[in-house]
Amino acid sequence: MEIDVLTLFPDMVRVPLSQSITGRAISESRVVLRVHDLRQWSTDKHHRVDDMPFGGGPGMVMTCEPFFRAVAALRRENSRVVLMTPSGRRLTQARVQAFSEVPHLLVLCGHYEGIDHRVIEALVTDEISIGDYVLTNGAIAATVMLDAVIRLLPGVLGDAQSSVDESFSDPDRLEAPCYTRPAEFQGLRVPEVLLSGHHGRVAAWRREQGEARTRLNRPDLLAE
Ligand code: ADE
Repeated sequence: MEIDVLTLFPDMVRVPLSQSITGRAISESRVVLRVHDLRQWSTDKHHRVDDMPFGGGPGMVMTCEPFFRAVAALRRENSRVVLMTPSGRRLTQARVQAFSEVPHLLVLCGHYEGIDHRVIEALVTDEISIGDYVLTNGAIAATVMLDAVIRLLPGVLGDAQSSVDESFSDPDRLEAPCYTRPAEFQGLRVPEVLLSGHHGRVAAWRREQGEARTRLNRPDLLAE
């Protein structure tokens, strides 16, 4: 897979994704990640990328031109053009999975009060929000989304099972608690069933615990 990111803050995307599992995926060429400074496509002599909003109001709006020029240069026939915005559709594991199956993602990061809506109308295929809160800009949101996408690419996770078993693979159930040695720590014991070696009972216990955690932490998943 290939990914291009357009942002005013390339290091906010490049640095975190250069670490750990995503960093290894990049160095092993399982993904090609190119992070671009949007100002590079500004024709303004001061490299400005924003202006005052028509109709008045506080803050600045990102202008059309740098996005139109950058997308014309980077987009391919089969690209998904994803805008990170708090006004987008919520990022879910199902959407992450769908993005991980496309050959080319072009990710646009917003900033300031917003972005000229003609960019969205003319260029964007998907508007995505990572949650109901507002970040200072879209770069961190892009980083979060791309971390989730890259770990699903073939060969990125060592144990292929680990991306299947976890929370949200069944989108309606959280994962069961997990434990490791020692079996007792400061008087806190690991549930006996996990030490029993009985696979059927372990599986049933995990199902039950997953349900209980879902009821406690995410009742909205059960209601949906
Ligand atoms: N930019 C600012 N806040 C955001 C959010 N919650 N999701 C995606 N992009 C954003």
